[in-house]
Amino acid sequence: MAQQAVGKAIQLAPDSWMPGGRPDPLIREQHGQIGRPVSRIDGPLKVGGQARYAAEFALDGMVYAALAYSTIARGRILAIDTKAAEAVPGVVLVMTHENAPRMNKVPLFLTDQKAAGGVDLPIFQDPEVHWNGQPVAAVLAETQEQADHARSLLRITYEEVPAITSFAGAKAKGKHPGVFMGNPLNIRIGDAEEALAAAPFRVDQAYETPRHSHNAIELHACTVAWEGDRLRVHDASQLVAHTAWSLAQVFGMEESQVHVSSPFVGGGFGGKCLWNHQVIAAAASKLVDRPVRLTLSREGVYRVVGGRTSTEQRVAIGASADGTFEALIHTGTVAMSPHNQLPEPFILPAMSVYGANAFKLEVDVAYMDMLANTFMRAPGEAVGTFGLECAIDELAEAIGMDPIDLRLKNEPDKDPVTGAPFSIREVEKMWRDGAERFGWSDRAPVASRREGEWRIGTGVAGGTYPYYRMPGGAARITLRQDGHATIDIAAHDMGMGTATAQTQVAADRLGLPMDAITFNYGDSTLPGVVLAGGSQQTASIGASVIAAHRLLVKELLQLAGNDSPLAGLSVEEVGGLDNGLASLADPLRHETYASILTRAQRGTLVVEGTPPPPLETMHWSMHSHSALFCEVGVNAVTGEVRVRRFLGSFDCGRILNPKTAASQFRGGIIMGLGMALMEETQFDERKGRIMNPSLAEYHLPVHMDVPEIDVIWTDVPDPHAPMGAHGVGEIGITGVGAAVANAIYNATGRRVRDLPITLDKLL
Ligand code: MOS
Repeated sequence: MAQQAVGKAIQLAPDSWMPGGRPDPLIREQHGQIGRPVSRIDGPLKVGGQARYAAEFALDGMVYAALAYSTIARGRILAIDTKAAEAVPGVVLVMTHENAPRMNKVPLFLTDQKAAGGVDLPIFQDPEVHWNGQPVAAVLAETQEQADHARSLLRITYEEVPAITSFAGAKAKGKHPGVFMGNPLNIRIGDAEEALAAAPFRVDQAYETPRHSHNAIELHACTVAWEGDRLRVHDASQLVAHTAWSLAQVFGMEESQVHVSSPFVGGGFGGKCLWNHQVIAAAASKLVDRPVRLTLSREGVYRVVGGRTSTEQRVAIGASADGTFEALIHTGTVAMSPHNQLPEPFILPAMSVYGANAFKLEVDVAYMDMLANTFMRAPGEAVGTFGLECAIDELAEAIGMDPIDLRLKNEPDKDPVTGAPFSIREVEKMWRDGAERFGWSDRAPVASRREGEWRIGTGVAGGTYPYYRMPGGAARITLRQDGHATIDIAAHDMGMGTATAQTQVAADRLGLPMDAITFNYGDSTLPGVVLAGGSQQTASIGASVIAAHRLLVKELLQLAGNDSPLAGLSVEEVGGLDNGLASLADPLRHETYASILTRAQRGTLVVEGTPPPPLETMHWSMHSHSALFCEVGVNAVTGEVRVRRFLGSFDCGRILNPKTAASQFRGGIIMGLGMALMEETQFDERKGRIMNPSLAEYHLPVHMDVPEIDVIWTDVPDPHAPMGAHGVGEIGITGVGAAVANAIYNATGRRVRDLPITLDKLL
């Protein structure tokens, strides 16, 4: 790829985003690769069939696994009759709790920096059953078909004990305080109930959201092999380094004895962490001393991989006549299994988006005997914005105010809960730009537009997601004498464009063309511990690479010595330009990497740098935001809803790659349309069993359900974030449910407060 000379050395000032740092002027303007719509560099491998996924590694002597799942919610296995299964030709092993190797518990996600487990219950260690669908036996055979058939011949008898499988029953047993990442989900500022009662305008409503199951198109899978006392795992993962460490704990090994790689992933969304199946595959492989491939069936994903849990929310807002919020109350209860870490924190949006004189925000938990619920794209925000943003729409109507004006009226000037200043906030511009582009001023009164059978309406909602940066450990840069640079870090590209955006950033940082950069990721043997989650990977990798780059420049200046045009310049005074380093003040003082390394007789220069802790998140309140505009048609005869137009206007700091970012926004919005209109895990409250474990019965948007989705963004860099960028991975889904519901109300005058809004609710 040809690169234009940029003419000015680029430094992307190290640590400039940290408290006390100097804002980096270079992130504000277009220069080099950052901000260009570069196509995904992994794209050709994927569409050309050369990208190998976890279930596509064929290892010598490999056997295939099939899992049997419990059919009771709580109790114990009395007996597993394996005779018929073992007699099937090709069957190599039936593994149950009786013959599985002894293993430690899986470290539960967030209980340690490297913990990867979605659930921490023992796996095949005892006869206990904790949820309906729990794996209770694994069959290994020479072919997948033999394994599947043999599995069907297992005869399992249970002793059932009473289980809590209804939400009402769980709530009756008592509610528990929700705690998220160590923080109680309970905020009280002023007396919100009193302020609500005194307010001249108020809305006080209940909203419900259902369970959702993870449905990444790539099924969860792993191919594992023991090589002596070392475990090799080809996984589908959004946290390879965490998984390697966690599997080492399970099998009582050193972390270095486990090698997990996941170079290509067909979607993650929070679901691709360490569940039962990788542990079962590794344990079974140990017993037969052969490689094992375990691909969960689609049903298997519903049984083994947790999803988003259900919520019951109360949103009450009291406002004065000019729309000022006097009280903001967002409380409610979520279902949760006692063996995970996520009390769906639906109050997170209400903690930062609007100012109010009094707040009461609280999430309670009711424990159920069910598969561990877990993280799913914007956990908390995706469903919390449904209640909050519908309630604001209802309040706007009660006051007789435009819903955008009502939101802007309550723009806070600092974080309403912590009091911290916002690092940057272009929310007003985001709303105004969106309104103009969508044509919001043409909005018609409620239930006033009709085209034949179709009632037409428009609605808006806001979305939000926090900026996080988890300490990602080291990144390694290897610079070769020919001017090629390799960046190594245990991070992930699940299809969102990580490798592409990071190659762009590295090209600018180093002053190299894109094709002189190799970005290696998705392998636990690389440095770093980066989670592809929390929309924080870009910032996390960026900070690690900045730290390594600083060391690289320091060493290069030392190697360059007094004979170089760079002589006498410090690390702060140079930046990458034209395949080398140049003075920031005078680009003519320049020397190429090839020249420096050749003169120093160095074939390569290798550095590893570790970033500072994420202190920026303690000094500033940092968030991505969205303003969502939706037009629906609701069929007056059938109740069918068609989304006709959708616009997302985003405020996420600097957009590093408009092409991949737009895909993240659109993908999130499409997932949000599914949440609004279709997605629901049907849970049998008598038996605790998921009843629709297939894509035939669990509905997701298909092409016909998705209109043209327009996306725009403010593109104003945050001086307090690496590269000026906030996350873009999860913001897209937040607020979409409310935007659709509010548009349906405008079309029909019908207010639906429980998702999904299926046609029966509109008849
Ligand atoms: Mo996401 S739910 O942090 O993958």
